[in-house]
Amino acid sequence: MYKSLVKPLLFKLDAERAHHLVFDNLKRAARLPGTAALLRSLYHYHHPSLERRVFGLSFPNPVGLAAGFDKNAVLTDELATLGFGFVEIGTVTPRPQPGNPQPRLFRLPQDEALINRMGFNNDGAAAVAARLRLRTNHRLIIGGNIGKNKDTPNERAGDDYVAAFEALAEVVDYFVVNVSSPNTPGLRELQDKKPLISLLQQVQEQNLRRAVPRPLLLKIAPDLSDAQLDDILEIARETRLSGLVATNTTISRTGLSTPARQVDTLGAGGLSGRPLRQRATEVIAYLHRRSQGTLPIIGAGGIHSAADALEKLAAGATLVQLYTGFIYEGPALVSRINRQLAGLA
Ligand code: FNR
Repeated sequence: MYKSLVKPLLFKLDAERAHHLVFDNLKRAARLPGTAALLRSLYHYHHPSLERRVFGLSFPNPVGLAAGFDKNAVLTDELATLGFGFVEIGTVTPRPQPGNPQPRLFRLPQDEALINRMGFNNDGAAAVAARLRLRTNHRLIIGGNIGKNKDTPNERAGDDYVAAFEALAEVVDYFVVNVSSPNTPGLRELQDKKPLISLLQQVQEQNLRRAVPRPLLLKIAPDLSDAQLDDILEIARETRLSGLVATNTTISRTGLSTPARQVDTLGAGGLSGRPLRQRATEVIAYLHRRSQGTLPIIGAGGIHSAADALEKLAAGATLVQLYTGFIYEGPALVSRINRQLAGLA
């Protein structure tokens, strides 16, 4: 029904408008008696073989929603009914910020891809934390993806990450330090060895002071070289990370069927979806091999089918996440992947 009825209508609208329309309607529908149960019966699939114990947390299944879809944690209870094993909220910055001017989200239907330069539009850590305190479904695992405000210079980035961490520490189950978005000027420079060690040390120091420290992960770009990926693994060991999220969107525009002229008119931003699949899998495979499987990896990038999810898991991912595939394939994708995984178990 999604692909034949809902998607053609949504794809007629501006991409960001369609996103808000889906949000508002899902929220509204879920308030009606019986809707949550209906969604659950349609989309939720559970099988004991899908359960995963990763960095001390018990995931009901390995398929999660990637960061950026529910940046402000307004829809976590509703998303739980769609069968996700976990939802990563954010990126959340300490202070609220509007993000980049619109339009900033574009579809490339020929490539089943998206280009976005949202720029961490979000309500700020305090508002998001307050919202999460009110949620009713406490079984869904929530990841908190954190970033820095646009107007915070990189030298003070650590303070922003610590502030966002502190605000959310009681209401999320694991954290992801995002230094790989292409849409905050200079952010990806924080992936360099020196600033990254100091940033992660600052957050981890705060984390380890807690009675129950949270698993701390790092989300990386697919555009890093092998040497940079080796550095990332060394830093992950040194700062005692619980895992990596690989990958974020890419700044590359290679291998697209959409005419280059058309792509150029869209301007800067991160590319996600099908064209990212192969590179993201290569990064996962490389990290898995070089770490000898010692570091859990959440694999993301171009998962549009059960086969794509299996490819990421075979490359060494322990869990997977999707965003663009959810837009192109609809909510049934999650249970489709889980059914196939359970069938193989
Ligand atoms: C994203 N992504 C993202 N990632 C992140 O760490 N913080 C964020 O705020 C966002 N925002 C965001 C917005 C939009 C519109 C998209 C399409 C993506 C990246 C996302 O979490 C994921 O890593 C990539 O999109 C790759 O996965 P898919 O989309 O190919 O399944």
